[in-house]
Amino acid sequence: MGNYKRITTHVLQRMKEAGEKISMLTAYDYTLARIVDAAGIDVILVGDSASNVMAGHETTLPITLDQMIYHAASVIRAVRRALVVVDLPFGTYQGDPLGALKSAIRIMKEAEAHAVKMEGGREVLDAIEKTVKAGIPVMGHLGLTPQAIYKFGTYTVRAREAAEARKLKEDALLLQEAGCFAVVLEKIPAQLAAEVTVSLRIPTIGIGAGGAVDGQVLVLHDMLGLNKEFSPRFLRRYLDLHTAVTQAVQQYIDDVRTGDFPNENEQY
Ligand code: KIV
Repeated sequence: MGNYKRITTHVLQRMKEAGEKISMLTAYDYTLARIVDAAGIDVILVGDSASNVMAGHETTLPITLDQMIYHAASVIRAVRRALVVVDLPFGTYQGDPLGALKSAIRIMKEAEAHAVKMEGGREVLDAIEKTVKAGIPVMGHLGLTPQAIYKFGTYTVRAREAAEARKLKEDALLLQEAGCFAVVLEKIPAQLAAEVTVSLRIPTIGIGAGGAVDGQVLVLHDMLGLNKEFSPRFLRRYLDLHTAVTQAVQQYIDDVRTGDFPNENEQY
C-alpha cells in the first residue's frame, strides 16, 4: 500500500479502486514543496490560496496567471514523486473555454505542471472539456468554491439545502463525464460528500467534507499552525509554528542585542 514511485492520475484512480486514501496538501514554494514531497504526500496543490497565504489578499481573486506560474515552477523544481496540480486563477477560464485551454497550456509549458484545477460545475463544463481534449488532466472543485465568494457572500457550509445538494450531485457526475480525473469537495455536509463519493468512479478529495471521501486536502500553512486567525472546524493543526517561529525570532533578537550571537565557533 502506498508504495508508488511516482504519482500519476492513473495511480490516484487505482488508489480509489483499492480503497487507499489519497493525501494532498498545498505548497507554493521550493523549500516547503521539497519537504512535503520527500515526506511522501501523494498530491501537491499549488492552490490559488497563495493569494491569501503568500500575498496577504483577503480573497483568492487577485492572483494572476503569471504569479501562479511562478509558484508552480518553484514547486515543480522541488518535486520528485507527488502529482502537482495547479489552480487556474479567477478570470482565466470562466465563460471562456479557449481562454481556459490557453491558460492551462501556459501552466503546463512554463511551469511543467502535471495537471490543473478549475472551480465550478456545469458553468465551466465547456472549459473543462476543451482542456481535457487537449490532453491536460483537470481536477474539478465543487461546494465552497472560493473564487465565487462574492456570489455566496459567506464562507459557510454549502449545499445544506436539498436543491443545492441535488445540483452538486449532478455537477459531480457532469465533471466525471467531462473527463475530470478527480474532484475536490469543499465544506459540504459529510453525508452528501459520502453520497457523491460512491456515485463517482473518479476520486473525491475533501476539505471540510468528512471522512467518507477518497482523500483529504489541507492548506499547508494552516495545518502547520502558521496562521492563528483561521480556525474552521475542519482544520487540524499538526504544529504550532506561529509560536515556534515567534520564539526563535525573539531569541535571535535577544542574542544579537546581548552579543551572545555570534560566538567563537560561529565566526572565521
Ligand atoms: O486554493 C486552494 O488551496 C484550494 C484548496 C483549499 C482545495 O483550492
